[in-house]
Amino acid sequence: MNQTISSTSDKAASILEGEDIILKVRDLHTYFYTDIGVARALNGVNFDIPRGKVMGMVGESGCGKSVTALSIMRMVTKPGRIVQGDIALFRKKKGGENDKSQIIEEINLTKLEGMGPVMRSIRGAEMSMIFQEPMTSLNPSYTIGDQIMEAILLHQGVDKVEAEKRAINILDGVGMANPALVVKRYPHELSGGMRQRAMISLALSCTPSILFADEPTTALDVTTEAQILDLMRDLQGRINMTIIFITHNLGVVAQMCDYVTVMYLGRVVEQATVDDTFYNPKHPYTSSLLRSIPHVGSRQKERLMPIRGVVPDPYSAIKGCPFHPRCSQVMRGKCDAQVPGLTVVGKSHTVRCFLYSDTVEEASNVR
Ligand SMILES: Nc1ncnc2c1ncn2[C@@H]1O[C@H](COP(=O)(O)OP(=O)(O)OP(=O)(O)O)[C@@H](O)[C@H]1O
Ligand SMILES: [Mg+2]
Repeated sequence: MNQTISSTSDKAASILEGEDIILKVRDLHTYFYTDIGVARALNGVNFDIPRGKVMGMVGESGCGKSVTALSIMRMVTKPGRIVQGDIALFRKKKGGENDKSQIIEEINLTKLEGMGPVMRSIRGAEMSMIFQEPMTSLNPSYTIGDQIMEAILLHQGVDKVEAEKRAINILDGVGMANPALVVKRYPHELSGGMRQRAMISLALSCTPSILFADEPTTALDVTTEAQILDLMRDLQGRINMTIIFITHNLGVVAQMCDYVTVMYLGRVVEQATVDDTFYNPKHPYTSSLLRSIPHVGSRQKERLMPIRGVVPDPYSAIKGCPFHPRCSQVMRGKCDAQVPGLTVVGKSHTVRCFLYSDTVEEASNVR
């Protein structure tokens, strides 16, 4: 049914050594065709997501983090669409999550209908997303209970009474006060923080193997944030859940993640273990991001260094490395002429930067 991508268009084999890969994204381009021009939100995204691990995804506003998650979930809608690239999902036999030899199926998600039955069942049972904006996923016309119970009834083979019990349990687990009452409420009857918790419950109700958490705790107070992060980590350990954690909070990345993917202007510029990202960053953009946030234990008078300039808009194409206009280590005649290709700089550590090699990105033939 699906063309496999692991052997055919594998531009960059997995560099995450010793990891069992659950998602492989290659050369992903997603564009928005708007009245004012084409917004090239993703310009050839390549990365791997290891099974049962937490991948942090960072980068300034507008770099394409949410669009990457929405593209993989096949939820990009008009005027946007995936114009090129492959997304391979490696599914395992039920109950075989811990057995590395049990890969039974590779599905290329870009070949499926976004709203078709296969993709819908993948979204309901295997992949789910905590959205940046709660009302994106909550339906205003149904009660919170009905929405959470829908996934449970569909995929867990239990009756309504048991489904409601489970829905209340999930709400309780995310720190919702009075969960038995909240199941009867509609989204507009809840506060912003309660809606966020309801949405997190909805995303967790199908116990997904892959969870995209897009700024899942930004609207919450620090105590609830800590509870939700604990819950996610607990689930990750218990059901071997894979989490793609999108956040601006590098403190949370350090606390939650095994690996980090750094995005800039619709591309991945660096991917590494969390330790290498913090202690041995290679890309000047990663180093700048780290310098722009406060460190735990840093001297009080240490000045934070904002990254000079702003992320360019995605409507204008930049020649060369997309970061070169803002880079303090730019090499004229090189960085402004060609796009750097992927360079392996260490164990499970890749970077796209001419400081480390002259490898040039292969040109994509976007339709
Ligand atoms: N519906 C849309 N129409 C036009 N452009 C869009 C649309 N959705 C996203 N984009 C553009 O795609 C680019 C990537 O957006 P995206 O939402 O993925 O950024 P992000 O990294 O998640 O940022 P933030 O940290 O602010 O959430 C942005 O330049 C954005 O303007
Ligand atoms: Mg976003």
